[in-house]
Amino acid sequence: MKNLKSLALVLSLFPLSFSVFAAGGKVHLDHADTDIMDRASLQNGAKLFMNYCSGCHAISFMRYNRIGADLGLSDELITENLMFAGSKPGETMVTAMPEGAASKWFGGVPPDLSLVARSKGTDWIYTYLRSFYNDEARIFGVNNKVLVNASMPDVLWSLREAQSEAEFDNSVRDITNFLDYVGEPAKLIRLQLGKWVLLFLGVLFVLTYMLKKEYWKDVKYGVWRRRD
Ligand code: HEC
Repeated sequence: MKNLKSLALVLSLFPLSFSVFAAGGKVHLDHADTDIMDRASLQNGAKLFMNYCSGCHAISFMRYNRIGADLGLSDELITENLMFAGSKPGETMVTAMPEGAASKWFGGVPPDLSLVARSKGTDWIYTYLRSFYNDEARIFGVNNKVLVNASMPDVLWSLREAQSEAEFDNSVRDITNFLDYVGEPAKLIRLQLGKWVLLFLGVLFVLTYMLKKEYWKDVKYGVWRRRD
């Protein structure tokens, strides 16, 4: 018993020690406030991603035509807006950047962003893209508050200059929303289906409850007797 108690104590301390590590040097993250059901936001995010990010980052788990189907884009729209010249709708979203050159330019290959919203979270991405600041000591003249000494340039600077602060925040929110969708495309279906599943369980509950009452009626009022 004593052993069990100390084991429980040790186990209960585990999550604590992890959260202490995680808390070290943590930066404040702004709330991304994305809505994966907002189709216009996803469409805009996809477009911005292709214009500003796909030159370096691949989303290799995603196919163009899946995005078209999920986001309600016609074939012409995807071909014109989302795809690199020469790629086909059934292909995955690779990047235009050759790996060897990327290593030379950035000291590493820009990571694939298929699952980044799952690993880092939407708040992280939203804050990261809005946290570049001038730092002459870095190769691209910028540094980042969220990812210190990031080797990614401030690719959205022209957009930030062209837009008001609120508009720019919205653009970044749309890109973040798109990456959230890319991280789990089935979420769109899952959330829709979830309502029906809950409704079904609700109806089933009522029926099961009525059935239970029916069975117990006999037991309660003494109608039921043992065979012998
Ligand atoms: C010029 C090339 C380039 C472009 C364009 C670019 N990135 Fe990056 N990105 C990088 C590199 C290089 C890294 C690796 C940074 C590091 O780890 O130091 C990176 C890292 C990231 C990360 C962190 C990934 C992780 O798991 O650590 C995210 C998120 C990201 N980029 C998003 C974007 C988005 C969104 C865009 C478009 C708005 C974009 N990037 C455009 C080169 C680029």
